[in-house]
Amino acid sequence: MLSRVKPLATILAEGADHEHGLKRSLGPWALTAMGIGAIIGTGIFVLTGVASATRAGPSLTISFIVAGIVSALAALCYAEVSSKIPISGSAYTYTYATFGELLAWIVGWGLILEYAVGAATVSVGWSGYFTNILHQFGLIIPQAWQHSHWDPTPGIANLPAAGIILLITALLVRGTKESGTVNAWIVSFKVLVVLFFIALGVGHINTANFHLPAGPTTGAGGFFPFGWGGMLGGAAFIFFAYIGFDAVSTSAEEAKNPAKDLPFGILMSLAVCTLLYIIVVFILNGMVPFDKLNVAFPVAFAMNSVGLAWAGTIISFGAIAGLTTVLLVMMFGQARVFYAMSRDRLIPPSFTTIHPTWRTPIVSQIFFGVCIAAAGAFFPLGILGSVTNFGTLLAFILTSLAVPILRRRHPELKGAFTVPLGPYFLPYLSAVAALGLIIFLKVGNPVLFGFFPIVWFIGIIWLVGGLFFYFFYGRRKSTVALQLAEGLAVKQPRVN
Ligand code: ALA
Repeated sequence: MLSRVKPLATILAEGADHEHGLKRSLGPWALTAMGIGAIIGTGIFVLTGVASATRAGPSLTISFIVAGIVSALAALCYAEVSSKIPISGSAYTYTYATFGELLAWIVGWGLILEYAVGAATVSVGWSGYFTNILHQFGLIIPQAWQHSHWDPTPGIANLPAAGIILLITALLVRGTKESGTVNAWIVSFKVLVVLFFIALGVGHINTANFHLPAGPTTGAGGFFPFGWGGMLGGAAFIFFAYIGFDAVSTSAEEAKNPAKDLPFGILMSLAVCTLLYIIVVFILNGMVPFDKLNVAFPVAFAMNSVGLAWAGTIISFGAIAGLTTVLLVMMFGQARVFYAMSRDRLIPPSFTTIHPTWRTPIVSQIFFGVCIAAAGAFFPLGILGSVTNFGTLLAFILTSLAVPILRRRHPELKGAFTVPLGPYFLPYLSAVAALGLIIFLKVGNPVLFGFFPIVWFIGIIWLVGGLFFYFFYGRRKSTVALQLAEGLAVKQPRVN
């Protein structure tokens, strides 16, 4: 199964099938805008609050730098691989061409956590800002229907979260043509709201907030109230904020000049967001004592707490619009990766069913719509976000390790972008850094049996479940397996 590699020629030919293929209309800046649209979301608008209050305190600014470095290392690897294999399907496709079917399956299975559980996470963040806005207009959703059972303020189900997911599912099924113009407007609005926060907030920094005294809610006090471990735990948690630059690589088949523009879009969108994030988090922690930030809408809350409620309202609208585009990208991406896996017959072919008139992958879209809505309704933000990070970091590790293998196996491929410092150093560093964040995901998460972090437990159960499915289904049905049996594909020698 490790030598069952999908031939690169087949992969590239599938992408070159322009009869059914997608229109190549995206240039470098459009790809950058798309990346920014996918990146800025719940991570910065919501998770910063929990992360500051329970993990890192004011040192969350350093956490953002650490997670930014881990993401940048992975982004360089994505940039090289995507410029050599400019095919949608992202990390799943790259792994199929390099490590073979088994690991490709594991990555695809992990990407479900990234996109589907990620969308559930964003829906819970969306719900926090939405209920806050309703509240300001005097409309109150009962507590029981805006929180899951496991939230700090327990309820029955988070109905706004489930509602937005079902609404977006309906839009995607109906095939609302993703209008580049509308997307660009919303992304601009979102970035403007972030700049607005920076411009207004910078005058309200109180440096005392960076060094609160020790106390029951402030840990040891100071800049690192929960130590270096807390800072790294914060980095592992808010890594979520950086997820999305890899979504640029899923639009490879719509890029005008993918070999050059994909690396540009990936790296530029990440650079812009990293800069904005570091500034926002520094200001946020300067405006409000960190132990007060454990709320569902921290960025708007910071404005409210310095007496600028009107600015808080504007930020809430920006967050709602911005989070909606993140949801669209994630749910769209999920359907695509699943479509690719179903096309390879690693999952049942019914998931490639296309609606006759709307031409959308209706079965996978509805299936995931219902699952994601349920996850958003019944699970808390902290667990959903951590599980998403687990799946994404797993895909990062394998994509990073794919770089040296691809160079060795296909020296003829000349992408427009090459990872600096040789084929090994940076990709290995990236894989180790991502593994480090997986380890620090345990900070601040509930534990099972008194010692085992629940996020690792869910991740491992997910992987084991995926392996079972592969051994009982995909291994026998896969298209590559059938081609091998008929002598149409050649087994590749193992690469060390
Ligand atoms: N990075 C995206 C967000 O923060 C997923 O919502």
